Amino acid sequence: MALFRLPTSGPAALAPRGHGLFLRAPQMADYAQWAQLREVSRDYLTPWEPIWPSDDLTRSGFRRRLRRYAEDISADRSYPFIAFRESDGAMLGGITLANVRRGIVQAGTVGYWMGQPHAHRGYMTAALRLLLPTLFGELNLHRVEAACIPTNTPSIRVLEKCGFTREGLARRYLCINGVWQDHYLYGLLHEDFRG
Ligand SMILES: CC(C)(COP(=O)(O)OP(=O)(O)OC[C@H]1O[C@@H](n2cnc3c(N)ncnc32)[C@H](O)[C@@H]1OP(=O)(O)O)[C@@H](O)C(=O)NCCC(=O)NCCS
Repeated sequence: MALFRLPTSGPAALAPRGHGLFLRAPQMADYAQWAQLREVSRDYLTPWEPIWPSDDLTRSGFRRRLRRYAEDISADRSYPFIAFRESDGAMLGGITLANVRRGIVQAGTVGYWMGQPHAHRGYMTAALRLLLPTLFGELNLHRVEAACIPTNTPSIRVLEKCGFTREGLARRYLCINGVWQDHYLYGLLHEDFRG
């Protein structure tokens, strides 16, 4: 029994479509495909992500994840999306706007992952390009931020191709794969963005 509901209208129902992809919030029906894609991509993803909880790929872990997502969306804190290929509906990866700050900031931070079988085909660049008009439009952000480890060349390329500017280096900024690691900070302002 589902103990939570994602709203069917408003920001939670955001589902941009274009560039051969569509994005939407994760649903319980995604569990099998999501867990399989994350499992086959484990060695590829874990060097670049926070340590996975031991039950991360279980059904109950996914249910707990969706419950947290629903709370975050309704509190305007975070907006998770899964990216699918439009031609066949294949799940490709995930992209999340997190850490939304309102008031005089109006900013949020994007993070993303691509399933290893789909990597290096331009999909994350396309997914981020697809999401940005929603972030600056419906979600009314002034600034979108991202952070990545200096050796993460694919992630740096994705951000550069989408027009982000490198703004600095934050020392031991995030705990990735169990180690506090330096990160480049990137930003994209609404007025810099060419949709
Ligand atoms: C970062 C990530 C999401 C990119 O997804 P993707 O769909 O493969 O990205 P794209 O194909 O759109 O672009 C990747 C770019 O990196 C380049 N690239 C890939 N591997 C590279 C490497 N080892 N060295 C140099 N460039 C590389 C690609 O050539 C491409 O750039 P180009 O278009 O200029 O040729 C994916 O690599 C990933 O999931 N990595 C692990 C998790 C992660 O790093 N998340 C982000 C944390 S900040």
